Amino acid sequence: MAQQDDLFKKIISHCKEYGFVFPSSEIYDGLSAVYDYGQYGSELKNNIKRYWWEAMTLLNRNVVGIDSAIFMHPKIWKASGHVDAFNDPLIDNKDSKKRYRADVLIEDYLAKIEEKINKEVAKAAKKFGDQFDEAQFRATNPRVLDNLKKYEEVHTRFSNALNDNNLEDLREIIVDCEIVCPISGTRNWTEVRQFNLMFATEMGSTAEGAMKVYLRPETAQGIFVNFLNVQKTGRMKVPFGIAQIGKAFRNEIVARQFIFRMREFEQMEMQFFVRPGEELQWFEHWKSMRLKWHKALGLGDTKYRYHDHEKLAHYANAATDIEFEMPFGFKEVEGIHSRTDFDLKRHEEFSGKKLQYFDPELNQSYVPYVIETSIGLDRMFLTVMFGSYAEEATESGEVRTVLRLPAALAPVKLAVLPLVRKDGLAEKAQEIVDNLRFDFNCQLDEKDSIGKRYRRQDAIGTPYCITVDHQSLEDNTVTIRNRDTMQQERVAIEDLAKIIGEATSMKSLLKKIEQ
Ligand code: GAP
Repeated sequence: MAQQDDLFKKIISHCKEYGFVFPSSEIYDGLSAVYDYGQYGSELKNNIKRYWWEAMTLLNRNVVGIDSAIFMHPKIWKASGHVDAFNDPLIDNKDSKKRYRADVLIEDYLAKIEEKINKEVAKAAKKFGDQFDEAQFRATNPRVLDNLKKYEEVHTRFSNALNDNNLEDLREIIVDCEIVCPISGTRNWTEVRQFNLMFATEMGSTAEGAMKVYLRPETAQGIFVNFLNVQKTGRMKVPFGIAQIGKAFRNEIVARQFIFRMREFEQMEMQFFVRPGEELQWFEHWKSMRLKWHKALGLGDTKYRYHDHEKLAHYANAATDIEFEMPFGFKEVEGIHSRTDFDLKRHEEFSGKKLQYFDPELNQSYVPYVIETSIGLDRMFLTVMFGSYAEEATESGEVRTVLRLPAALAPVKLAVLPLVRKDGLAEKAQEIVDNLRFDFNCQLDEKDSIGKRYRRQDAIGTPYCITVDHQSLEDNTVTIRNRDTMQQERVAIEDLAKIIGEATSMKSLLKKIEQ
């Protein structure tokens, strides 16, 4: 666990040191849970967006993209349920004056019990070696059974309190479990209150005429309210999808874990409109397609898992998360939800406008059902970082830090390094960059030893380094070094565009999804 914490801290400082992610407003001591992307971070983020956008709109003939405004009519959030129900239960500790999510305090408590059980099992496995029967141990060991009983009791009370929206019961669980504030160490808790996560502001120039508007907490509603615009102008036939990438804002109570939970973040969402009754088969389709998209990146197939929701939101009839193994456990990166006709029907009700589709094959009109795929761009960025960061010993005994980024996502595709700055090598290197810069993000790096320059490029995940030496002047060849294998090969300068193009293109990555 400590090792994993350590890894997480290293990745956060790597992101800062190499221009990927900076705390927002840092010279003013930062702004909690808000981050800025630096010169390499924004390139990586743009490449992730492009990978998602092209996978949606190029690989699916019936998915188109839009870009709706962040501000929307306030009634939209009433219709969607966000004004009344987009809440987190919060509790304050009276001594430390710190605020917590009541559900997170209980979840952390449950996770600790689980950890105790797992430690007991691991200890016994070590003691008994090959003879160890884990299932039998779990079913008979008194300490494991005690903890399991405790876990189940608290878990049942917790689920009931959440289902019934019972804030008093949530508080009682915290008190009964003797959960203390991590800062003050006391159990001096306030009541539990609901806290709406939407940010509000005012639109209009006069105080009297101003209208309360919200910063959108999800991009999805911009798609729902444009459903008929797109269907009619694009002459779309059900089933079809609308994709969108954009900012979303949530006033998270517990904003922690770097860019995992932010107050301003980006989402990549797609709403797929289908015939009523066909939604569950499309849900399975998108569930499988989205996992293929993740796995094509090559970050490690075993690092992903589905987490099917047992407790469904009132408007959903199926939901699953795609989770990735982060240093702090398996965590949700993307949600796939079968949202029925809830949103469109609510918008019909609140706007008074029909949001129906005439199906020529069935000769009838209906409100389509919707399958949603919703992924956080920043969380995906973090996933890519976790899956790519490595520290490894080299043959010379040094430790190199390398980002094994999927080549199509790498911010810089190649660096051209003249062996020395004299004898015309720098000019030759510049000539190569001048030819390739229309196709790739290239860097010319002349400073320091070749070894140091390789390390710098490894640290930002550049897949290829091209070294220009004296032989290059004689026969127009260079060496090309592969970031992952560190192998070098001599190739003709005229072949560089083809070699690098094939290895780093978005097309090659997109093709992997369908393999
Ligand atoms: N339209 C459905 C929706 O918004 P969600 O599960 O609340 O569903 C979808 O969010 C995805 O957005 C999550 O899987 C996560 O990747 C990302 N996300 C949600 N809240 C976030 C936050 N505070 N910071 C960063 N990413 C967040």
